[in-house]
Amino acid sequence: MQFFIDTAHIDEIRELNDLGLIDGVTTNPSLILKSGRSIIEVIQEICSLIPGPVSAEVAATDYQSMIREANHLAKISENVCIKLPLTFDGLRACKHLTSIGKKTNLTLCFTANQALLAAKAGATFISPFIGRLDDISLNGIQLIRDIRTILQNYNFQTKILAASIRTTNHVKEVALIGADVATMPAFVLKQLIQHPLTEKGIDIFRSDWRKTGQIIG
Ligand code: G3P
Repeated sequence: MQFFIDTAHIDEIRELNDLGLIDGVTTNPSLILKSGRSIIEVIQEICSLIPGPVSAEVAATDYQSMIREANHLAKISENVCIKLPLTFDGLRACKHLTSIGKKTNLTLCFTANQALLAAKAGATFISPFIGRLDDISLNGIQLIRDIRTILQNYNFQTKILAASIRTTNHVKEVALIGADVATMPAFVLKQLIQHPLTEKGIDIFRSDWRKTGQIIG
């Protein structure tokens, strides 16, 4: 399973990348706004740090403008993955970009049928938003399960990129289902390692080791 980090903050990306835990990055217009920087500048900097896919989202809503923006973003680096909204224009743009060898990520997916359309358009990634479904009392995890089954039924190559992840439990659940990628905020990724018994165990072992008076090596 691959881990992407869902941020446009370079410091967060650098920190987790140094730990060897990042396979890619996802951004969106809200994350670019939070960074306070220009999209071109941020995506350029992220691509210079991360060799894996870096999703950069188009702002346009009509096909021609999406293609124009996508061409602009794709020029930044080979690893740019064009993020497109799940609309008919977005699907059409996805089909075209796929045919010329560009990576695509179809975003704002809230139903299994939307994922099926994205797979038919040849999307590299489909991004179902788990947290936003949970926010309105629907079942985001069940959506991942349904999409996994549908993609497997027809041997589609589109990868499931579980997005809008809010908790460590989301990560565990999507891993159990077999999502190809989980994209998450830095704080969720950092929480994955935490357990009080691990911390307590380290303290006990350190204290007992000091009592042995030994040194290794
Ligand atoms: O990048 C898309 C997605 O991960 C957004 O998450 O928390 O804004 O619903 P969120």
